[in-house]
Amino acid sequence: MSGGTILVVDDERTLARAIRGYLAEAGYEVEVAGNAEQALEMLDRLRPDVVFTDVRLPGMSGIDLLRKIREFDAAISVCVMTAFGTIEGAVEAVKLGAFDYIKKPLDLEEVRLLADRARETSQLRQELSYYRKKAADDVAFTGIVGTSPVMKAVMERARQVAALDETPPVLITGETGTGKGLVARTIHTSGARKGRPFIDVNCTALPATLMEAELFGYERGAFTDAKESKLGLFEAAEGGFLFLDEVGDIELALQGKLLRAIEDRTVRRVGGIRDRKIDVRILAATNRDLERDAQHDRFRKDLYFRLAVILLRLPPLRERGDDIPLLADHYLKHYSAKYGRDVRQINAQARDLMRAYPWPGNVRELSHVMERAVLWSQGDTLDVEHLSLSTPTATAASAAGSATGPGTGAPADPLDLTQWERTLIERALAESGGNQTKAAQLLGITRDTLRYRLKKFGLGG
Ligand SMILES: Nc1ncnc2c1ncn2[C@@H]1O[C@H](COP(=O)(O)OP(=O)(O)OP(=O)(O)O)[C@@H](O)[C@H]1O
Ligand SMILES: [Mg+2]
Repeated sequence: MSGGTILVVDDERTLARAIRGYLAEAGYEVEVAGNAEQALEMLDRLRPDVVFTDVRLPGMSGIDLLRKIREFDAAISVCVMTAFGTIEGAVEAVKLGAFDYIKKPLDLEEVRLLADRARETSQLRQELSYYRKKAADDVAFTGIVGTSPVMKAVMERARQVAALDETPPVLITGETGTGKGLVARTIHTSGARKGRPFIDVNCTALPATLMEAELFGYERGAFTDAKESKLGLFEAAEGGFLFLDEVGDIELALQGKLLRAIEDRTVRRVGGIRDRKIDVRILAATNRDLERDAQHDRFRKDLYFRLAVILLRLPPLRERGDDIPLLADHYLKHYSAKYGRDVRQINAQARDLMRAYPWPGNVRELSHVMERAVLWSQGDTLDVEHLSLSTPTATAASAAGSATGPGTGAPADPLDLTQWERTLIERALAESGGNQTKAAQLLGITRDTLRYRLKKFGLGG
């Protein structure tokens, strides 16, 4: 089973059908176009991973078709088929970004091998452009807000790190919601490697064996399910950044291999025999006290010291003073615009309360509080009641952490967040009289997202 969609463009019908038959047998979905114009019309509907095209076609040439396909979606791999005498065309095609060329008369097994290679590359490109887009989208939404002395100091160091192309790994620490992910992405987008990949790996999500396959890739046959070889995230991050989020959760069994990859700048795929050179910058983040974990042998000391050569410690929000009202105003504007509300200000009592509150969920919590406040506000001024900071969880949290002390770092209760999300959806539905489209608009999410949530919470549907 190969999987993937292929478009074959050739005016020699018999040949095109033979290719289709052979590739379909190999598990591909294959369609045929008799000329370039027809192929172009099919692109949008078909979204092929790979296109095989003859160079010489009636009407528009295969080379011009290649140009158009590259404009349409550069992730599609285009393979050019050349008859005797059109080899120059093939060479030109490769210069213009064709994946490869193949000579006629065709050996169908060779066509299949080329299709497999082209498909793998195309899917990888699609993944990468997804990761890049994701990284860019997130940063475009907010800059890093904050002018408190503690934040200024860390941001200054982060800027230095971003300006250098070659640095040892950078470890970003801080409680949940303090902006570790945001800082990591900003280092990427503001430095010389901004056009290169930013691969974000959540180390919590996977057990060691799967994680190893994800990070380092594997060769065909490395384990029962490995029907094909796959490149790992280290290789996918080539030239850019690998962001190891929640790095403290990587199992001990894998930490040695990770250390070796970072120190030697090489990776070896699972089941592989060859070391591959990599040029990847490492960013890591954790909300745990990794130094302590290292002292108690819960995390490898050598790996900790390797990761923490450059340490960026993000302070909790309660230590950032004036950043609290600054961020509150920032989110007030953002959510007012998003939901089409005309909320302009936060009154003095509400501001005082926000300064005194310990913010166990830090900036993320503040953002949620402001979103909720804007959604349920009436009029142009936010008051204490809109903030609903005196929920049982909030009281418990303020008892646990003091406004000035180092704080316990108690993470926000995820259950509570889920509950809150559910309440918000229920209210939006009530307000829209059960109309899902309207409710989605009110919440600023797509209808599909709303449907997904409704299913998740077992609400209607
Ligand atoms: N200084 C800041 N200015 C503007 N937005 C911020 C700032 N810090 C954090 N945010 C926003 O707050 C949210 C939480 O930040 P982020 O996800 O980076 O936190 P984190 O430290 O990675 O949290 P976790 O440990 O839970 O993964 C994001 O939406 C981020 O854009
Ligand atoms: Mg994060």
